[in-house]
Amino acid sequence: MCEQNEKKKVLSCIQPSGMLTLGNYLGALKNWVYMQNEFDCTFAVADLHAITVRQEPSKLRSQIYSTYALMLALGLDPNKSTLFIQSQVPEHSALSWILSCNTQFGEMARMTQFKDKSAKHADNINVGLFSYPVLMAADILLYKPDFVPVGADQKQHLEIARDIAERFNRIYGDVFTVPEAYIPKTGARVMSLQDPEKKMSKSDENANSWVAILDDRDTVIRKFKRAVTDSGSGIYLSDDKKGISNLMTIYGAVTGKSYDEITKEFEGKGYGDFKLAVGETVADELAPIKANYDKIISDKAELERLFREGAEKAEKVARKTYFKAMKKVGFLL
Ligand code: TYM
Repeated sequence: MCEQNEKKKVLSCIQPSGMLTLGNYLGALKNWVYMQNEFDCTFAVADLHAITVRQEPSKLRSQIYSTYALMLALGLDPNKSTLFIQSQVPEHSALSWILSCNTQFGEMARMTQFKDKSAKHADNINVGLFSYPVLMAADILLYKPDFVPVGADQKQHLEIARDIAERFNRIYGDVFTVPEAYIPKTGARVMSLQDPEKKMSKSDENANSWVAILDDRDTVIRKFKRAVTDSGSGIYLSDDKKGISNLMTIYGAVTGKSYDEITKEFEGKGYGDFKLAVGETVADELAPIKANYDKIISDKAELERLFREGAEKAEKVARKTYFKAMKKVGFLL
């Protein structure tokens, strides 16, 4: 009996667009690391997705390296999981075309991320930005995962991937597994430190609003000290205390403490004490990742060896599903 075959499958991807944030870490990456011990995991750097907004080629190249290195630095292990770069497995683009022809314009037009991003990049509302969720569906469906660990902002894309899979299976016969989203209870939506109504995002122009996974200790603590809070007092979860609630979410996601435990821990303490404690806790969590990263990124040859090997491993799985889909729609092999 082969234990590996009994494990449920997991897939997720991350875009290599700029610095990865504490939001990426708590909403997704931290869970990837836990999941690799229990599941058969596949994780990718979604570089094809990154060019839906204009990228400078040399910068993109270095961000792909650094995102892959960061996945390793977090503790993702190429001997346990398949770790690869999306553009190196051409089946993603190829399946995306077949799926595009089975996806309705109206379905894509409803996507809130498209609406947000096209407002932000009004000078470049390209077709790729519009059909982005179809490529994401291809990323997922090629590997037949049971679970897709993502932050709450990707929920709508996951739902459309499920719809596309169900429709394809209904029309052509069973090819795809219909996956479940795996969204963490705490940390699914980490908000900006400067405007807690907005998602923490690396594209935010105000650098104090987000913490990069690779920020140094002093920077992390400084950003938390400057975090926006309301004018009241008391550390408890409330709709009137969006800033404090966000800090509680971050603190809870890092320490595993419940909101009640956090409230008790900081009884009688002020916002300043709490902000400092959150900053120090986050800095402690991120410090070993940064130290690992600095070592890993300096060995480019080893990185290249690993991502090539990862792509080969991924492609074996992807090709099987892709060929099956090709046959079902009537293409010749
Ligand atoms: P991306 O690159 O924007 O983000 C990577 C992961 O981080 C999560 N995330 C957050 N979670 C909590 N709070 C935040 N502030 C926050 N910001 C980001 C995201 O939900 C995501 O899980 N389309 C995807 C990448 C992708 C993908 C896929 C994901 C491409 N193909 C297939 C899953 C499966 C994206 O742009 O994520």
